[in-house]
Amino acid sequence: MAGLHPVVVVTGATGAIGAATASVLVRRGARVLLLARPTDRLAAEVKRLGGEDKRVSSVGVDLSSLASVRSAAREIGRGVGHIDALLNVAATFTSEYRKTKEGFEVMFATNHLGPFLLTNLLRDQLAGRGRVITVTAPSSTRVDVDQLMDKRKFRALETFGATKAANLLFTFELARRAKRWEVRVNACHPGLVRSELMREAWRPIRVITRMVSQSPDRVAEDLADLAMSPAHEGTTGWFFKGIKRIEPPKSTVDQQAQARLWQRSAELVELEKAGF
Ligand SMILES: NC(=O)c1ccc[n+]([C@@H]2O[C@H](COP(=O)([O-])OP(=O)(O)OC[C@H]3O[C@@H](n4cnc5c(N)ncnc54)[C@H](OP(=O)(O)O)[C@@H]3O)[C@@H](O)[C@H]2O)c1
Repeated sequence: MAGLHPVVVVTGATGAIGAATASVLVRRGARVLLLARPTDRLAAEVKRLGGEDKRVSSVGVDLSSLASVRSAAREIGRGVGHIDALLNVAATFTSEYRKTKEGFEVMFATNHLGPFLLTNLLRDQLAGRGRVITVTAPSSTRVDVDQLMDKRKFRALETFGATKAANLLFTFELARRAKRWEVRVNACHPGLVRSELMREAWRPIRVITRMVSQSPDRVAEDLADLAMSPAHEGTTGWFFKGIKRIEPPKSTVDQQAQARLWQRSAELVELEKAGF
């Protein structure tokens, strides 16, 4: 890790896993940029970590809006030089079909397109040993972009599962592409963690998951390791549960599916020549 205070960008910094991870990163000496929507929650999180200073700062971003992601990437560019690690933690679950102003289904936009665009726009700042870690789940749901955009075919859990599988397809394709820039790319499954992520889910699902969920403290340490530990300096293209390497679902290691999703996402976000 370069520098006395490695720079780590954390999306979903107001959520259960993001906030716990930000605490560990600050404690371990990182300079942390907290990303979430610009609400009181974000301001409170900055305050909890000691207030805006040289080591804690925030950038408001709505990941469901490509315009907001572009503007946040510019703001990050003005605020920091090299980024040692980007943690894509944010995600949303909605029980009903909702569309963003730009015309995308909200979970697909927030959980996949926004992080896809943000990561690509931060390419030059990550170049030279930067790390990208995307928090996801071992989902094998088929990713069909046309189906994801189609209101008539919307099924909340299936759409959410597809966005989590998309995180894995994205990770493995990015790991190959990012080698040219010496950027390491991995995904992490946190296990079941107590949070409000599924607050719109059917009540029995919420009750059962809450009963078997853990505090985010353990995975926060693990994510900080993946972001900062010299042990993971060269690790790329892996899927972790905590810090243990696990096998990703077969469907997510299909290189054609990875390339197809990349191509389609690049078109949708109008990446053109920018990005990995
Ligand atoms: N909890 C689990 O059991 C579990 C299991 C497997 C995987 N995961 C993954 O772990 C990650 C974190 O989950 P969590 O449980 O910590 O969820 P959480 O507590 O609900 O946190 C979600 C975070 O995402 C942010 N977010 C939501 N919509 C956003 C938007 N449009 N723009 C910007 N930020 C947005 C929220 O910030 P604001 O609302 O303040 O903007 C919040 O910081 C997710 O990727 C999830 O899929 C969780």
